[in-house]
Amino acid sequence: PFNREQEIEACAAFLQSASKIAVLSGAGISTESGIPDFRSSNGLWQKEEVREAITRSCFSRQPERFYYYFSQLFLSWTDIKPNQGHLALADLENEQGKWVGIATQNIDGLHQVAGSKQVIELHGNLRHAVCQKCGTAKVMNGIKEKLENKMIPLCDCGGILKPKVVLFGDPLDMQEFRKAQIWMAQADLIFCLGTSLTVTPANTLLQHRRHDSKLVIINLEATPYDREADYVFHAKVGEILPVIVQKSQTGD
Ligand code: OAD
Repeated sequence: PFNREQEIEACAAFLQSASKIAVLSGAGISTESGIPDFRSSNGLWQKEEVREAITRSCFSRQPERFYYYFSQLFLSWTDIKPNQGHLALADLENEQGKWVGIATQNIDGLHQVAGSKQVIELHGNLRHAVCQKCGTAKVMNGIKEKLENKMIPLCDCGGILKPKVVLFGDPLDMQEFRKAQIWMAQADLIFCLGTSLTVTPANTLLQHRRHDSKLVIINLEATPYDREADYVFHAKVGEILPVIVQKSQTGD
């Protein structure tokens, strides 16, 4: 019964009256920056060998194979910049003074580059690597050269360095996950942005939301949570979110 314009107005009104906003973002918020997502037709997981290689078990058994695929991914992301979607969230926090807590499944760090300050990286990040033997943390950029030369990055102690990302088969940081649950429980407005909402436990965060909170989903494709949402936009985050944010500010 509503057209898109009216739905955007309604979301802007939610935003205007919300005091705490929680965001669950996924790979779809970064596709407009040029990073492929996982499950779309051109997604990273379409190739079985990539899906199998970027896992905990492959890292443990065949680190050369893991790094062969991982470095293609890591090395191709160096000139990536935040897009209108990331920037709209940062504006909400920095320009409008809203409380915004972002739980992201992304490892690209683009929310922070955009200026968002409260970001939980549920699946880790690409900035750091940790030695599997002595536990020392290293900066990923420092090991870029080794990856370019197709070498396995090693710590000074000889142990293999693992990027600080959560691979299939790895546990999440439970302390951070618990914090994200609390953000969801405290929020009066929740945005799910560019995520298929099919990956557990990240998608279970939505179960922690309050019954009287509002849920807005912006994702190109349908998600299993669409019917629970107040508004769903099957559109690009970068096209819809900045308009909602701008309208909430000006009230027009
Ligand atoms: P998916 O690839 O599962 O979902 C991304 C969603 O974003 C898809 O449903 C797309 O339709 C949608 N999309 C793409 N571009 C968009 C755009 N510009 N605007 C709006 N929507 C867009 O990625 P995630 O949900 O992030 O985990 O996947 C979750 C986790 O699965 C990842 O963190 C990763 C993966 O396996 C690990 O590797 C542990």
